[in-house]
Amino acid sequence: MPELNLDKILASLDLRISEVTLPDEYDQISKDYLGKDSLLAEERKKLPTLSNEDKKTYGKKLTELSKKIESKIASSKKQFILDTFQKKEKDEFTDITIDWNRNEGSYKHILSSVMDEVVNIFSSIGYEVAYGPEAETSWHNFDALNTPDWHPARYESDTIYLNSDLETLLRTQTSTVQIRHMEQNDPPVYIVAPGRVFRSDQLDATHSPVFHQLEGLAIDKNLSFTDLKGTLEYFTKEFFGENIETKFIPHFFPFTEPSAEVLVKWNDGSWLEILGCGMVDPNVLENVGYSKEYKGFAWGVGIERLAMLRYKIDHIKNFYENDIRFLEQF
Ligand code: DAH
Repeated sequence: MPELNLDKILASLDLRISEVTLPDEYDQISKDYLGKDSLLAEERKKLPTLSNEDKKTYGKKLTELSKKIESKIASSKKQFILDTFQKKEKDEFTDITIDWNRNEGSYKHILSSVMDEVVNIFSSIGYEVAYGPEAETSWHNFDALNTPDWHPARYESDTIYLNSDLETLLRTQTSTVQIRHMEQNDPPVYIVAPGRVFRSDQLDATHSPVFHQLEGLAIDKNLSFTDLKGTLEYFTKEFFGENIETKFIPHFFPFTEPSAEVLVKWNDGSWLEILGCGMVDPNVLENVGYSKEYKGFAWGVGIERLAMLRYKIDHIKNFYENDIRFLEQF
């Protein structure tokens, strides 16, 4: 019966394995030790020439060896991959607890904290937060909001279009989210939509071509102008303090009827406008397919405006200049 030095074969396999540098090399090792040109295959070829007895014993020995080699290669490959992964993990380890602002700490931008605060005031009375895209269709920005292309209000805010057929633009108002939300959801609706808006305005003390708004929309069966007043007065008191005085004056917006502006009384006795609002125009509700039994109100408030009033900031550009001496005051 042929003799095979098992230990020697296994030792040579160990050596080969110890030299592996890439996981793919295990395929070659498998081929060399188990493939058709391997020593094992050579030995198997001898089997037919052996006596029945020897055939059985030697055959069994070869099968055992083959199983041993196979499992050695498999377990070593598994370990190799694991080790490589662990090493990679160790080498690439990033300590996310490192405090980059060791001295100052980090803090939110003033506009983000004012926006968060306004959102929180409304979510505490049941409003959900909704979002819409900054690149909008003219339908969502104008037409659905009862502002067809012949409407003068459209020219006032005609703005940064993204294509020559005037079908997409950077939204001029967060009122677009009213439409998007109503298109997707049945009434009742109580949402606020924070976001960035774009206008072809020149930069001056109170205007910027990019600024932030928070839109609000409430649609239900029995909402009236009294609910609108109550909600917005609640908001101004929460934001500016119990003693703030507000007044509503008539205004025009295409998507509300009647429409109003809310003014707050400032320390020096002057009245300053902080938001536009009104009862949602029935045409808007019809555009989104809401039934006539539903009514509601909406408003849009400028976040920069709120921050400027509260913190007595004299120029809107302060928010965007990233001057740490300004930002760290808040
Ligand atoms: N979208 C208006 C603007 O940007 C603000 C506004 C006015 C929003 C009245 C409303 C509203 O929802 O009812 O000037």
